[in-house]
Amino acid sequence: MKIDILTLFPKMFEGFLSESIMARAIKSGIVEINLIDYREYSNNKHKKVDDYPFGGGAGMVLQVQPVYDALIDIKGYKDALKILVSPQGTQFKQTSAYELSKEKHMIIMCGHYEGYDERIRDYFDMEISIGDYVLTGGELAAMVLVDSVTRVIPNVLNKDESHLNDSFSNNLLEHPHYTRPRSFMGKEVPEVLLNGNHEHIRKWRLEQSLKKTRERRVDLYEMYQKGSKGE
Ligand code: ADE
Repeated sequence: MKIDILTLFPKMFEGFLSESIMARAIKSGIVEINLIDYREYSNNKHKKVDDYPFGGGAGMVLQVQPVYDALIDIKGYKDALKILVSPQGTQFKQTSAYELSKEKHMIIMCGHYEGYDERIRDYFDMEISIGDYVLTGGELAAMVLVDSVTRVIPNVLNKDESHLNDSFSNNLLEHPHYTRPRSFMGKEVPEVLLNGNHEHIRKWRLEQSLKKTRERRVDLYEMYQKGSKGE
């Protein structure tokens, strides 16, 4: 998958793209990520990309021209899925990550300042929010999107890291995990995990998932009940 990210702060992505699973996915060629600084497309001699809002009011507004010029300079932009990240978008979910993971080419636009010139929206196919809070810019939101989409692309995670049992993948939160030591300050690993009976372990994990989801996320639990009877 090719992902082009339009941003005013490409350096914010350095750590994110150079570590762990993202770095591995890039190295193996499964994802290609390009960072495009749309300040470079400003017509302004000071490379300004924002201006005062028509009609007055606080804050600056991102101009349409540099974003448009940066966008149309991307090879294959017409066929790419063009995403604007903003707090006004539809809420991003695990199901969105699965859907987006099927795309061949995505362009993600990160905003800054008070907001966008409304006309920018006309050049994008969808607007995504990562939650009901406001960040200083779209970069963190773009990273969230890229991370969660990349990890569900086939062959990015190896067998031991499978995402198929992730929280949310079936509307249930994940069951608890334990590793060595078996006993830590009097806290014991549940016996069922130690006896090697895979059917008992499977049942116990499902029960724990159901219990956690019921206690913490009634909304998800209700969706699970509608879609599945469990056992
Ligand atoms: N930019 C600022 N806040 C955001 C949010 N919650 N989601 C996506 N993009 C944003």
